[in-house]
Amino acid sequence: GKSGYDHYMRKEINEQPAALRDCFRGRLDELSGRVTLEEFEGVELDRPVTLVACGTSYHAALFGAQLLREWGVPAQAFLASEFEADAVPIDADSVVVGVTQSGETADTLRALREASAAGATTIAVTNVVGSSAARECDRVLYIRAGPEISVAATKTFASQQAALTMLAASLSDHRSRELVRELRSVPDRIQSVLDEGAAREVAATYADAGAYFFIGRGYNYPVALEGALKMKEITYKHAEGFAAGELKHGPLALVTEQTPVFAIVTGDGRRAEKTIGNVKEVEARGTPVVAVTDGQSEVGRYADHVLEVPPAGEITSSMVANVQLQRVAYWTAHELGRSIDKPRNLAKSVTVE
Ligand code: M6R
Repeated sequence: GKSGYDHYMRKEINEQPAALRDCFRGRLDELSGRVTLEEFEGVELDRPVTLVACGTSYHAALFGAQLLREWGVPAQAFLASEFEADAVPIDADSVVVGVTQSGETADTLRALREASAAGATTIAVTNVVGSSAARECDRVLYIRAGPEISVAATKTFASQQAALTMLAASLSDHRSRELVRELRSVPDRIQSVLDEGAAREVAATYADAGAYFFIGRGYNYPVALEGALKMKEITYKHAEGFAAGELKHGPLALVTEQTPVFAIVTGDGRRAEKTIGNVKEVEARGTPVVAVTDGQSEVGRYADHVLEVPPAGEITSSMVANVQLQRVAYWTAHELGRSIDKPRNLAKSVTVE
């Protein structure tokens, strides 16, 4: 049941610290900085990686592909519905990773089957033991998030990000004590986000907005896309995520005083600086700005509201920042009286192409 919560979505958002601890269990070694996935022991996988997925899982796949590239493995994420093995191209040397919570999404299964037919090694990153993806792929990495009932994916996104970070570290043989320490700190950092009320206030302030925009760079770009998907899915309002640098190539025309812009800015590097430049462009037009930030840069100065992310490195901060956006979407939908767990027209698992 809902264990006293009004909605499964709220329960599942709040389950993220526990879900992540399960996901990490037995897989991280702090002393050596190594990730050990027994699922991949003895498998040599230092080859280009193609990820396929839909919806929220695609946003996790984009994040996973970025990490793999960062750690020296050529990688690309595709929407499963747009993937054609012969056009990519896929052969016996390819590794294809299907990211799918349910393990039953028709588009993702089709892409994996095509990859398999072309001789690729297939890996399922899934939540459901015994699902079609788990049964049909050569290898399985379970994200161990526990059952997710709400149509909107929340805790499974965090667990996909965590699992893909470990998969990327393992495939690229990336070792870092700092990363391992940081990963271990994610559950507590998410808990501190869950314990504060700012997201609810922001939701109440902008529940009547005409549209919502989300901008981010690097690891925060998939978070911007995911923040917008969650918002549109459960509030039925126009929401869109953009790579921050794309704003002035078109989307800026949409920005008005009625369209709050959520800027996800973590760290204090070049990426943060550039996104702050984009935030200034927006702010100059009288548009409300909500900064989702770890406070390491000065983005807060240009924002009307700040949603805090307890600081750490950029990779794991993106996981924590996303939880703030899940909460804004939830409380906005709550404010609007929407059917949060079962949004109109949508199904939990999309088993038709
Ligand atoms: O089960 P899957 O991860 O394959 O599902 C993919 C999408 O249908 C799913 O993530 C969908 O976008 C969610 N409802 C988003 O909240």
